[in-house]
Amino acid sequence: MSLLDQTLTLPSGLTLPNRIVKAAMTENLADAANQPTGRHERLYRRWAEGGSGLLVTGNLMVDRRFLERSRNIVADRHLDVVRLGRVRQAAGTTPIIAQLNHPGRQTNRFIARTPVAPSASGAVPMMGLFGKPRALASGEIDEIVESFGTAAALCEKAGLDGVQIHAAHGYLLAQFLSPHVNRRTDAWGGDVAGRARALLASVRAARQATGDGFTVAVKLNSSDFRHGGFTEDDAEQVVRLLVEEGVDLIEVSGGTYESPALFGIGVDETPVPHLASVKEAYFAAFAQRARRAAPEVPIMLTGGIRTRAAMEALLAGGAVDLIGLGRPLAIDPDLPHALLKGAAGIELPSYTLPTVAGMAGESEWYEVQIGRLGDGRDVAPGLHPARAASGFVGGELVRGLREQRARRRLAERA
Ligand SMILES: Cc1cc2nc3c(=O)[nH]c(=O)nc-3n(C[C@H](O)[C@H](O)[C@H](O)COP(=O)(O)O)c2cc1C
Repeated sequence: MSLLDQTLTLPSGLTLPNRIVKAAMTENLADAANQPTGRHERLYRRWAEGGSGLLVTGNLMVDRRFLERSRNIVADRHLDVVRLGRVRQAAGTTPIIAQLNHPGRQTNRFIARTPVAPSASGAVPMMGLFGKPRALASGEIDEIVESFGTAAALCEKAGLDGVQIHAAHGYLLAQFLSPHVNRRTDAWGGDVAGRARALLASVRAARQATGDGFTVAVKLNSSDFRHGGFTEDDAEQVVRLLVEEGVDLIEVSGGTYESPALFGIGVDETPVPHLASVKEAYFAAFAQRARRAAPEVPIMLTGGIRTRAAMEALLAGGAVDLIGLGRPLAIDPDLPHALLKGAAGIELPSYTLPTVAGMAGESEWYEVQIGRLGDGRDVAPGLHPARAASGFVGGELVRGLREQRARRRLAERA
């Protein structure tokens, strides 16, 4: 029997039927009030039917003033829990957890002209899409931490099996972790323990707001892949702190909007000790360090994994318990079943531009495919990347700006 086809029980007690996980991919399918829709239901039914052992949703926002995309679901007190429950039901018996996120300085200017961050700093330098962030006041950080707890409680009420706190890819909790962006001199900055405080407090808030058996996971960068940023040494210490905090699963990724290692851009093909055959998993070397720092916590590895041979080698190596797949499942939702039946893997369309604009374009291309699945249509592998990228700017500009005031008003309503 393939190593992929084994069950895994998380410390929370949640049992996954196999080792393949659909990694978080933003869906951009919420309605204008940022509520779940029938398109989410169709999409998660489709992915569940594809055979993954666990589905991680695209990021749900914890504060409706600061979205990653205009059509994110917002899990604040205005969330329609019944509708989120329908998404859960659409996934049938497949375990499903919701990723929770605050984008911080990576909030585009159509959503918020002045984003927030641990410290005031330069804008994210990406085609003028981002404003210059202001520093959060200490009281605002307490509120954000609380909002992770509120969101987790709502997900539990909707029947989801858990949440994953997003502390990777340069979003707010990753900004706190990074000495490049977090220059605070109070309790929320300084050494690794100080920089990890916002993440650990958010994990604790999610735990305290939910019951026994509810999974609390974290997605963490191995590194920011930038000079002066969050390093692998920092990440190893954060893994130890997460172990003390009692998390149920740690997913390893890497990079930010400015340095998009998550898509393999700028990642060295360093040979992985004991895993010389595995060249395609971007962060496999750090997964081994994470395993040593967290011998008892399941480790999920995501980024660049394409062949069954590599998946099995990673599992056999002992450092990795779960294989995360993103882009492959946006173009082939049935891939998990195929892999479990012995398929060799998948090759993605060879379209990658080695630039930051390339990351936005690439992500958008896959998002269009996700939207098609949400509409019950087939994917369109022949779609031109330029068409996908122009859809992003146009869509965000119109929807982001048009709905900005309404979001702010609703957020401020007592
Ligand atoms: C369209 C798209 C949307 C994504 N949205 C998210 C997200 O909401 N949260 C997240 O943690 N990662 C997100 N990612 C990154 C994936 O989870 C994953 O880390 C990345 O695609 C690398 O894995 P892969 O090589 O298997 O695609 C997204 C990726 C794509 C392609």
